[in-house]
Amino acid sequence: MRFEDFSESESRKILKNIQKESEPNEDGQLEIVFGVAPCLLALTQSRRKLSRLFVKNSEGPQRDVILMVCQEAVKQGVQIQRVSKQTLDKMCGGKVHQGLCLQASPLGFITEEKTITSHEVKNRRALWLVLDGVQDPMNLGAILRSAYFLGVDRIASSIHNSCPLTPTVSKASAGVMEVMEVFGYSNLRDMIKVKAEEGWQIVGTVGLEECRPESIVMPCSDFKMSRPTLLLMGGEGDGLSPELRQMCDVLLTIFPRRNLHPGVESLNVSVATGILLHSLLSTRTGS
Ligand SMILES: *[C@@H]1O[C@H](CO)[C@@H](O)[C@H](O)[C@H]1NC(C)=O
Repeated sequence: MRFEDFSESESRKILKNIQKESEPNEDGQLEIVFGVAPCLLALTQSRRKLSRLFVKNSEGPQRDVILMVCQEAVKQGVQIQRVSKQTLDKMCGGKVHQGLCLQASPLGFITEEKTITSHEVKNRRALWLVLDGVQDPMNLGAILRSAYFLGVDRIASSIHNSCPLTPTVSKASAGVMEVMEVFGYSNLRDMIKVKAEEGWQIVGTVGLEECRPESIVMPCSDFKMSRPTLLLMGGEGDGLSPELRQMCDVLLTIFPRRNLHPGVESLNVSVATGILLHSLLSTRTGS
């Protein structure tokens, strides 16, 4: 395999044009996907427009996987360029790139309703995970990874108050973001209402501290899925919004197995999501 040589001036030019992840991404702008799994899957899934693959020029422990990614790039006709570790560091803002960066078009939320995809098998009870305002990219990535692993049929997210599908999310999801579509909704309420009318069960989740006397909250371990279900998860700060909570048929929570010390009373949202999904999906019948 041959690599193009990469001059310092060209490297500077590319660095200048690389967008910071915190800046809003305009149409047509490219971003830097980093890490082995995100780069490999971005190459094989053909969901992004691919520009160039940047590869660390020294030998290292990752050599074999890097070679595999390069082979995929060759197959896809994507130009490969060797760069120094420092250049890669700068390209992805000092994150853990594992020797690989891929310049590519961004992946957005899916905003058009499509006909049933192969994931959404008809003869089993569907579970859609609905995220309302998850803002930390590490959390979002971890949630995508667990949801995919555990067999969630669709991931839906609010668009305006949540983290976009950035390369950091893809890395935190171990590449799942490249494989599993994430549907975005500008108005979750409308979507939930339609699903409720179609006979889906709307299941909300609350932290222990949000269990108010006026609402009936059930331990998630007591709940059984008996219909197609939407599982609603709130964001890191305030949890599920009161409007969405009102739309729920059932509210679930995870009960602790000890007396909790004041101040350490909550679970990380990605961990909570994993527990809830496992709990619900293991009660799904007909799969
Ligand atoms: C929650 O856990 C994820 C990993 O599952 C981690 O990346 C994230 O930073 C954690 N969030 C908080 C707020 O600690």
